[in-house]
Amino acid sequence: MRIDRFLSNLPRFNRQQVRLLLAERRISVDGQPVTDPRQDVREFSRVECDGQILQAGKPARYFMLHKPQGCVSATVDPQHPTVLDLLDEPDKSDLHIAGRLDFNTTGLMLITNDGQWSRRLTQPHTKLPKVYYVETEQEIGPEYAATFRAGLYFAFEDLTTQPADLQVLGPKSARLSIIEGRYHQVKRMFGHFDNKVIRLHRECMGPLVLDERLAPGQYRPLSDAEICQI
Ligand code: URA
Repeated sequence: MRIDRFLSNLPRFNRQQVRLLLAERRISVDGQPVTDPRQDVREFSRVECDGQILQAGKPARYFMLHKPQGCVSATVDPQHPTVLDLLDEPDKSDLHIAGRLDFNTTGLMLITNDGQWSRRLTQPHTKLPKVYYVETEQEIGPEYAATFRAGLYFAFEDLTTQPADLQVLGPKSARLSIIEGRYHQVKRMFGHFDNKVIRLHRECMGPLVLDERLAPGQYRPLSDAEICQI
């Protein structure tokens, strides 16, 4: 929200007072004086007037989890353990998953309370590649790479997938890089060739790479440098 709207929404200021406060440099956001009424204020921002706190700003939280097999990418599930059950953190109901994985898919999962950040990571238009290690039931044919690069038509969504990059590693293993994250996307892409995916592991999302020191089920907070890369 813009700072002028944030301030006007408070019962103590009217719009004229808000204009004046900003012009007089009496408002600060995260310790920096603000004069531009369009300055963005988020739930994480600390907002002060003459040094008096108007909003303390809650901490933004970012975690990298090595998702194990057999857990659900959801915040609650009546039957199975969820990825959030693996986190020993307060206020877990504030957290959400940036890019779900299927029940038996393993690998990099990012969890945060920052919706803008997770949208940047997952929205197709930001074009951040998600890289998967894949093992299949049948051999991977030489025609797969060109088909994936051209895009596959998904009738349910009525769209053609964005160009994906396939690197064949062995007769039945490959590394696939995709831009968007449609429902069961990797399995459906190999399914086009009637080839079942029997192992799927996400290695990276954009510049963020699964920390190899994390065993399945373990997690750690992201570093400031990692957070800023998105
Ligand atoms: N594509 C899939 O089919 N499953 C996943 O878990 C992730 C991508």
